[in-house]
Amino acid sequence: MSEAIERGGDTWEYAPAPESTAIVRLQDRYGLFVNGEFVEPKSGKWFTTINPATEEPLAEVAEAGPEDVGLAVDSARDAYEQRWRALPGSERAKYLYRIARQLQERAREFAVLESMNGGKPIKESRDVDLPLAAAHFFYYAGWADKLEYAFPGRAPSPIGVAGQIIPWNFPMLMAAWKLAPALATGNTAVLKPAETTPLTALLLAQVIQEAELPPGVVNIVTGAGETGAALVESSVDKVAFTGSTEVGKIIRRTIAGSGKRLTLELGGKAANIVFEDAALDQAIEGVVNGIFFNQGHVCCAGSRLLVQEPVFDVLMDKLKERLQTLRVGDPLDKNTDVGAINSRAQLQKIEELVASGVQEGAEMYQAECVLPERGFWFRPTLFTGVSQSHRIAREEIFGPVLSILTFRTPEEAVEKANNSPYGLSAGVWTEKGSRILWMAERLRAGVVWANTFNRFDPASPFGGYKESGFGREGGLQGLEPYLRLDGGAP
Ligand code: NAI
Ligand code: MG
Repeated sequence: MSEAIERGGDTWEYAPAPESTAIVRLQDRYGLFVNGEFVEPKSGKWFTTINPATEEPLAEVAEAGPEDVGLAVDSARDAYEQRWRALPGSERAKYLYRIARQLQERAREFAVLESMNGGKPIKESRDVDLPLAAAHFFYYAGWADKLEYAFPGRAPSPIGVAGQIIPWNFPMLMAAWKLAPALATGNTAVLKPAETTPLTALLLAQVIQEAELPPGVVNIVTGAGETGAALVESSVDKVAFTGSTEVGKIIRRTIAGSGKRLTLELGGKAANIVFEDAALDQAIEGVVNGIFFNQGHVCCAGSRLLVQEPVFDVLMDKLKERLQTLRVGDPLDKNTDVGAINSRAQLQKIEELVASGVQEGAEMYQAECVLPERGFWFRPTLFTGVSQSHRIAREEIFGPVLSILTFRTPEEAVEKANNSPYGLSAGVWTEKGSRILWMAERLRAGVVWANTFNRFDPASPFGGYKESGFGREGGLQGLEPYLRLDGGAP
């Protein structure tokens, strides 16, 4: 931890600034949320969810078996057929607005719980995850009674029951990305949170109860991969998945030929491209945000930095200097920049890939910081001398590790950026507007950020090319996966 930042000879110490956890009231045990109530799992199984920054247990959470998943899907089916699909859009919107307002009112409680269960810095859960989750509900509430205008003359109607499986890197935000468009369009849902971060989804279930959403419109089944697989294999009409490419492929194989609709939002290995004419100090902030935001547990992370050769040396000096100022540690401290790695398994994956980088001959540079003794941590790390064939240039590390390559011409930048099985996002840093447009036309990525990175807005669609998946979330485009258009059978 860089306890001191030196500027012009003066040294300031940061005082600890921990956010209080008193606002969060944890239960010892959380059941499954089915048909508007918390119920004991028929499986009889429970698992412990921990705080990855301390390894301390937080609560016991139900593990849904196939029977539990079946009951949740039945409940969603009844709610769909008996109430929700026939409700006027303006009525559906009322519930979504209620949920959105509750998320704003209880934002601090949600943010603290998100950081406790997932390890992300409180300033991120407070300033990014929660405001964006609420914004997503507000945004899709606005569409609920305007679907005819969103798709004029195309007779939009809902699909039925959506099975939604989400990851652990943005637990609340991903729940919002999944539930808000599904509900706005008249579908009902069974949501499966990730096994390491179930608690904010279960707090959302309480908000949903208080909002008096009709029972069964949203069901939440906790558990790990087997629970997710049971949901995929159940009688849902649509599957929406965010997670690893590996599991995305399994899901696609499983439901092939079943008639179920599918959207997949999978991994990434985004190129963040810095041209010699870029404003370098701003670019440094974008590079740091691109890879160290949320410990690099970000599918659209700028994990490959492509630097134009003439500015490589100066950019590296600035980047190394900036790395030393990052504060790694207690996620609940308001000054923390880089929190805990989400799980032991993810830490092992990062360590394994970093070891491969060293072994394959790349040069490693790490921030000098003291890591806490308990919990899962990884130092902010840079690799130079990386070539396209290295595993650290090709595989998603999903940690605070940046692989740096160089290029000479814009054509070479495009060729290197697109030389990846993934295509989720990209960043371009340059003074020239014409070059931004030239690059954006050629980059095979769902999102291209220009002179910024990791910017999100509910009105803007997000999704991938190639092994990053298909289908879009957010914006008008995000309604389509949940609708039949052109009067298809309901
Ligand atoms: P994962 O893909 O196994 O987990 C994501 C979600 O899928 C979780 O809710 C999990 O319980 C569920 N799941 C797992 N196996 C399933 C199956 N067979 N059927 C249905 N659902 C299933 O991801 P994991 O193992 O947590 O992370 C491995 C790597 O995946 C990470 O290191 C990262 O590279 C990538 N990843 C990418 C994410 C993204 O946002 N694109 C999010 C999480 C992980
Ligand atoms: Mg997995």
